[in-house]
Amino acid sequence: MAMTQGVRGTRDFYPEDMRLRNWLFQKFHHSALSHGFEEYDAPMLEMEELYTRKSGEEITQQLYNFEDKGGRRISLRPEMTPSLARMVMARSGALPLPLKWYSIPQCWRYERTQRGRGREHYQWNVDIWGAAGVEADAELISVLVHFFRSVGLTSEDLVIRVSSRKVLEEVLGSLGITGEDFSKTCVVVDKMDKLPAEAIEGQLSELGLDNEAVSTIQSVLGIRDMGSLQDSLGGDSEAVLELDSLFGLIEAYGASDWVALDASVVRGLAYYTGPVFEASDRSGELRAICGGGRYDRLIGTLGGKDLPATGFGFGDMVVIELLQTKGLIPELSHGVSDVVFGMGPGLREAAMRVAASIRSRGRDVDLVLEDKRMKWVFKHAERIGAERLVMVMPDEWADGKVKVKVLESGEESEVEFDSL
Ligand code: HAM
Repeated sequence: MAMTQGVRGTRDFYPEDMRLRNWLFQKFHHSALSHGFEEYDAPMLEMEELYTRKSGEEITQQLYNFEDKGGRRISLRPEMTPSLARMVMARSGALPLPLKWYSIPQCWRYERTQRGRGREHYQWNVDIWGAAGVEADAELISVLVHFFRSVGLTSEDLVIRVSSRKVLEEVLGSLGITGEDFSKTCVVVDKMDKLPAEAIEGQLSELGLDNEAVSTIQSVLGIRDMGSLQDSLGGDSEAVLELDSLFGLIEAYGASDWVALDASVVRGLAYYTGPVFEASDRSGELRAICGGGRYDRLIGTLGGKDLPATGFGFGDMVVIELLQTKGLIPELSHGVSDVVFGMGPGLREAAMRVAASIRSRGRDVDLVLEDKRMKWVFKHAERIGAERLVMVMPDEWADGKVKVKVLESGEESEVEFDSL
């Protein structure tokens, strides 16, 4: 059998796929840069222990891990946040705060493959370190909305659902569930709509929660407006005050239409401590488009000194699905400006000279490398979306000229080689 199949859950990027990927990444870059973020990167391989947390998160059970030739336990990164925390920790004290950094890493998770979920994906990460207030969280929402607008999506297509870990923290705190048990509880609660009720109840009772506690959690998770949240947690609740000021700032950004309070957003990673959010399509057909939140105590769990941080991860797969359904993927051309063609083998060198000259002026040139019929050359130039076809023909070349055809208008002219 021919070896045409790659590893399950991974993708090949043919040039047309690459065009789409580059287009999407440009939008990621611009949205981050427009908000003053700087790009960083990290290795795809990390020490496995960077991820071996004991909170029962799915992500730590999905590692692509192995032992290297030196006997070290290594893992492909399933997410970027621990690498970023490691980088920040390694320069602790030496980095000017706050940091506003972004990256587009490829991440690897041994997941069940399904629509919008693969075993590798590119994940746009945008994070702010060293800013403790909700201004930073609002800024992230603004980056997201900027991106959505830049690709033509509207607040009717999707919604960013926002809550805070402090909502559950207050409820569970009154039941005596704090610290690590609280993080573990969040990880279980996040699975409530994916696992059968008995499984959830079993996992929660292992953490010390009885049936009454479970139903209290469930009723709080049903809250969708600030009034009910206040009724439930009280007017001086930290969670209420925090979310109230966050929504106020989002309004100042003119982005209120894009967000909604939804107390069922908990997030499946243990490290979140404050506001959390997830975007999904309004029709509810697709998986989460992106997700993030505040994680002020991650560095502490890695043995360093805590530093406030907030950020999000945004995969490349679901958003493409959404853009496809909405007909928002633009036609993306090859990007070549000129096709140069020498008529017959005798003019091959002349054609090369012409191509080199046009390239030296900063244009992108595709030189036809073999003898082809004129008809093929026209079709080829059209197919790759070139602006001009430059033909090197015997009579014209003898006069130091070439024939230029502008493809859109069909206009043809003879041009001096020197003034091309
Ligand atoms: P996450 O929710 O695990 O968060 O992933 C963030 C986003 O990455 C998801 O909403 C989805 O778009 C994409 N994603 C995740 N797994 C897959 C997959 N298997 N296939 C396709 N896309 C996927 C995190 O990873 C956090 N580290 C994000 C973060 C950054 N929080 C703070 N800063």
